[in-house]
Amino acid sequence: MTFTTRALIEPLALAILILGITNIHAQDFASLPKTASLPGDTQEKIELGKKLFFDPRLSSTGTVSCNTCHNVMEGGDDGRATSMGVDGLTGPRNAPTVWNSAFQASQFWDGRAATLEEQAKGPMVADVEMGMLAHDQVIRRIEDIPGYIREFQSVYGKDSEVTIENAVDAIAAFERVLITPNSPLDRYLAGDKDAMSPAQIRGMQLFESTGCTECHSGPALNGWQPDGEAEFAHFPRIPESDYVTKYDLIADLGRSNASGDPADDHHYKTPTLRNITLTAPYFHNGRVSSLSEACRLMAATQLDVELSESEVADLTAFMEALEGEFPELSFPRLPSRSGESVIRASAGKPRRDES
Ligand code: HEC
Ligand code: HEC
Repeated sequence: MTFTTRALIEPLALAILILGITNIHAQDFASLPKTASLPGDTQEKIELGKKLFFDPRLSSTGTVSCNTCHNVMEGGDDGRATSMGVDGLTGPRNAPTVWNSAFQASQFWDGRAATLEEQAKGPMVADVEMGMLAHDQVIRRIEDIPGYIREFQSVYGKDSEVTIENAVDAIAAFERVLITPNSPLDRYLAGDKDAMSPAQIRGMQLFESTGCTECHSGPALNGWQPDGEAEFAHFPRIPESDYVTKYDLIADLGRSNASGDPADDHHYKTPTLRNITLTAPYFHNGRVSSLSEACRLMAATQLDVELSESEVADLTAFMEALEGEFPELSFPRLPSRSGESVIRASAGKPRRDES
């Protein structure tokens, strides 16, 4: 990815000054870049991507859009342990936030998609998500709506056809504007010493001294660095911890599901902690409902540390300082088909085989 490194370096230089005072390490914390857009991400493409993101007609039943499970009016997730897609079906994993998903080296808990574009192809044809049979069916739905054809042609050239590659290209361009800079941590790193409360500063120091930054470092606190490789961490690293059985942390094999390599059993992408206060419940199976419990669990299963209650309070205070500024978003007006529905489901259970 080609991010402007200047956006990172300037705040970092200032941050080093402050870090000297508070005795934390510059490389562990970094400001969130203020843009993630790529050169081809025109406003028109972003708007098209936003429409597709919000459009439930891309699902078999016409009821589920990307926004259903990644509600960008809130934390970019669905607040459920595991998500519910078409026909009330639920999948095995918790929906991560789409806010700041541009700032990660791979997508999904197990990193099975390398890019946002590749990721966006998955849910449309996943049985328990948007339930379409194949991408061709998605494209036919889009082509049934004349306004969309015009918009695709306007963005991708007047002789171009609606393709899945173009659809996910537009969705990813929209996702790249879903970023939340200027959190209290970012302002603190940029020199505003009052941006974080004493408890938040204690929490930040504890976050580092306990060892959380071994995995949760960098601008999104997920180990991601611009141009860095995708990395995966062992979870739970201490399998004998009581939390492992309490929250059933070993049923899912994680990364090895995607890679096929048993050495990757129980490895996961380190998730971002940006806006983590907004995305309960936690972990890949959504079994942990509070942030304080998530911190206790992490310390125990990853670092073999038992935190005191005041330490837990400081850590969660620090995480409140990771809530950024959300850009103003307006609802898109979706193009429609005059006088005709594109969801041709019969009465009763919707039929997935309709296009
Ligand atoms: C039915 C709910 C549901 C719908 C609809 C859905 N998603 Fe997701 N999304 C999930 C879940 C659950 C995961 C995690 C799955 C996993 O890791 O195995 C996920 C993962 C992601 C991720 C990866 C984030 C990360 O931190 O790894 C992105 C990005 C994303 N979805 C975007 C989209 C887009 C774009 C759409 C629409 C095309 C969409 N999702 C539709 C539930 C949903
Ligand atoms: C060895 C790497 C590693 C260390 C050390 C580590 N984490 Fe994590 N963290 C992860 C991984 C991987 C996950 C995702 C686990 C899963 O659900 O599959 C995670 C998940 C989390 C979550 C839940 C995120 C979500 O979206 O559900 C929180 C909160 C968290 N960590 C905080 C901490 C804190 C606080 C510490 C220090 C006490 C810490 N972590 C130490 C790797 C690590």
